[in-house]
Amino acid sequence: MPSSTSDIERLFRRALVRLLTGEREIRLTHAVPSFDGLREKFTQIDALGLYLHIPFCERICPYCPYNKELYRPDLAEGYVNAIKREIDIYAGIVGDKPVTSLYIGGGTPTTMLHSGLADIIGHVRRTFDLRCDVHMESHPNHLSAENLDAIEALGVRHLSIGVESLMDRHLRTLCRPYTVSQVKDAVGRAVSHGFTCVNVDVMFALPGQTEREVAETGRELVKLGVDQVAAYPLFLFPYTPMGRAIGPGAHVITQSLRRRRMLRILEGIFYEAGYERTSVWAFTKRGVPRYCSVTVPLYLGLGASGGSYLRDVFYLNTFGGAEYITALDDGGLAIALAVDLTEKMQRAGWLYWRVYETRFRKADYRERFGEDIDAAYGRFLTAACRLGLLKDDGERIALSDSGAFWLHAAEDLLSIEFVSTLWGSSRRDLWPERAILS
Ligand SMILES: C[S@@+](CC[C@H](N)C(=O)[O-])C[C@H]1O[C@@H](n2cnc3c(N)ncnc32)[C@H](O)[C@@H]1O
Ligand code: SF4
Repeated sequence: MPSSTSDIERLFRRALVRLLTGEREIRLTHAVPSFDGLREKFTQIDALGLYLHIPFCERICPYCPYNKELYRPDLAEGYVNAIKREIDIYAGIVGDKPVTSLYIGGGTPTTMLHSGLADIIGHVRRTFDLRCDVHMESHPNHLSAENLDAIEALGVRHLSIGVESLMDRHLRTLCRPYTVSQVKDAVGRAVSHGFTCVNVDVMFALPGQTEREVAETGRELVKLGVDQVAAYPLFLFPYTPMGRAIGPGAHVITQSLRRRRMLRILEGIFYEAGYERTSVWAFTKRGVPRYCSVTVPLYLGLGASGGSYLRDVFYLNTFGGAEYITALDDGGLAIALAVDLTEKMQRAGWLYWRVYETRFRKADYRERFGEDIDAAYGRFLTAACRLGLLKDDGERIALSDSGAFWLHAAEDLLSIEFVSTLWGSSRRDLWPERAILS
């Protein structure tokens, strides 16, 4: 008999994994794919995305689950050379396949704005057939007028800013090193700079935050004229200082209801102001191309903790900056963990990401897997439509607002646990033997 909420959650998670993937658990091991094996995979791939991870930050925020370490100029210098080596290795594997998205995330990519970012992006352009603009994350403290020019010169047209809150008291709780007035100035400069899309990240359901404050933040963001808002509830990852200090927080259901009410408030404000939902968390001004991390289903991850998804395999680089540099110096890749994906896992992963993006064409599923989505997931789709979670017009599937909320809830249960297991253990042990997700 399950004895506590966490036991029930674990049972539910296992059932969900079983239902979606047909597996009892997902086991990543140190079985690194060979160069020839990877080259073979590219013969079946038409186009790919690139993800580049910059793991450096000037300060470490207590709630942050990402792979990051303090910026050091000597480490950054070694990092540039290692990434260029990794790019050279992949050049022989990828061949002339077009690259249709480039996303630079972190950590804080703008820590390297004047210490190697241009060199790395120049190397990407010289090596790959790059057919896209660059999407990049940034820190508000790095957005002076000169830096915005330097960012634009990199080819960045989609810029994301980690604003997090527009209330000084919450910025203090989160240990963010700026005031509301400073961050508004930074956002204002970015908005008037002429990027295709300026995205602002904010967090809600912060400790002690009221619904009125959430509404005020939503309205302020609209007033600032940002093209997109990604609003995430604060997730407490057990391996972060804030996660350890606060613990799991309120009871799961109370927490979910609070988030739901706050998200409803934000939805109302953004819809009224002419934004539409473009992912589970993001609202984009109608007509603006959205800022997003993954625009193609297959991608290569460069840098420490870079993750790659190549049709039937997913693998992750080591999380350590110095270890990553050493591995590349030694002439190899820096892959730490890999998992072969069964056909059922690929289908479930594809469906999860397309639903996460809030809509997709059924024809895309047929193109990718060679069969009708209704044949594979018909019962599941019909049930989700009856419950009002999805809408199916025969050609397209779209996520409803209520579906988005329940996807959040499933995310809470599944992804947060998986991220905690995978990232937590990959940080503790930089060359882990295995990681088991169940
Ligand atoms: C890599 S960070 C953003 C860029 C930059 N490093 C910064 O902090 O300004 C990506 C975003 O994830 C969100 N985030 C980070 N930790 C989170 C957490 N514990 N719960 C929810 N969202 C989180 C924040 O909104 C953050 O801006
Ligand atoms: S939230 Fe951003 S700045 Fe803070 S530690 Fe994480 S990646 Fe670095």
